[in-house]
Amino acid sequence: MIVRDVFGTTEKGERVDIFTIKNSSETAVDIITYGATINSIYVADKNGEFADVLCGFDTIEGHEKLSNYQGMTVGRYANRIANGEFEIDGVKYEVVKNEKGITSLHGGGELSHAVWKAIIIDDSSLEMTYTSPDGANGFPGKVDFKVTFTLHEDNALEVKYFAVSDKKTVINMTNHAYFNLAGKGDILNHMLKINADAYTPTDATSIPTGEIRPVEGTAFDFREFKQIGKEIHADDIQLDQCKGYDHNFCLNDGDDAAAIAYDPESGRMMEVFTDLPGVQLYCGNFLDGTRPGKKGEPLIQHCGFCLETQYYPNTPNMPAFPQCTVDAGEKFESTTVFRFSVKK
Ligand code: BGC
Repeated sequence: MIVRDVFGTTEKGERVDIFTIKNSSETAVDIITYGATINSIYVADKNGEFADVLCGFDTIEGHEKLSNYQGMTVGRYANRIANGEFEIDGVKYEVVKNEKGITSLHGGGELSHAVWKAIIIDDSSLEMTYTSPDGANGFPGKVDFKVTFTLHEDNALEVKYFAVSDKKTVINMTNHAYFNLAGKGDILNHMLKINADAYTPTDATSIPTGEIRPVEGTAFDFREFKQIGKEIHADDIQLDQCKGYDHNFCLNDGDDAAAIAYDPESGRMMEVFTDLPGVQLYCGNFLDGTRPGKKGEPLIQHCGFCLETQYYPNTPNMPAFPQCTVDAGEKFESTTVFRFSVKK
């Protein structure tokens, strides 16, 4: 079942709608047209108690003014591009450097802060579309973006990304949900497993150095379940320079879940599946409790963890990374699934 309602009005006077998709187990997902944002996900725990497992905002003002991309669709280029520069076929493009004037982060927030058009496809699927003009934030090509959200009966939220450009360009789309499977407090006690033998270490501006470093023997080894907080502040420059995990993991090939997380207390568990080569683990390191989130509760450090499925950061400048260039007219398509259950 899908119900549509009005969520609010942006500063510019645009109406923002909220859609609730619910399945027969009462699992529910709220999605708003501002930023094609997943606003809330209500999931049962081991006793059948429901909680909202996403940190974020319950007002449009929060999303417009206080957001660190909570739940938002991110693009055109999710994550960072060094110096806001890259080349395609010998042509240099300069894109917005919205992070300290040095790096380009999350495409300058264009997709995340746009009001998307929405169509209800059927009882469980919603489609959102947005067209980005040629040259938006410096990126080449007019791009038609589409994201579909489907809540399946097995409590899997399937997010499909589509894009078609009229010029050769780069595309990297993700969702920036901050999960907290307890629905409260911080996520340092959550258990996490990531199907990655290697990660991409970064410099002080969070740009990959180019090294693909084995996780073996480091705090980045999540190949078996480990408490997120166990080594988050281990003595490693990689963790020091960004206050914890804020890194791309190079996913192993195969059909296994890219990542699995669970909260030992409530038993709520989430598996993440993707066809993309990487996932950014970010644990809300830079949140400091000064911004009010839902119900006015402060968004504290580590209140949520993000598993941003993606191409590796700065791919347009790194020929050795899996590439994300699309030709004019070529269809970009990618799927990520977040499946919720209770840990057995
Ligand atoms: C980045 C973080 C950043 C956060 C919010 C993540 O994808 O890796 O460094 O603070 O997004 O912008």
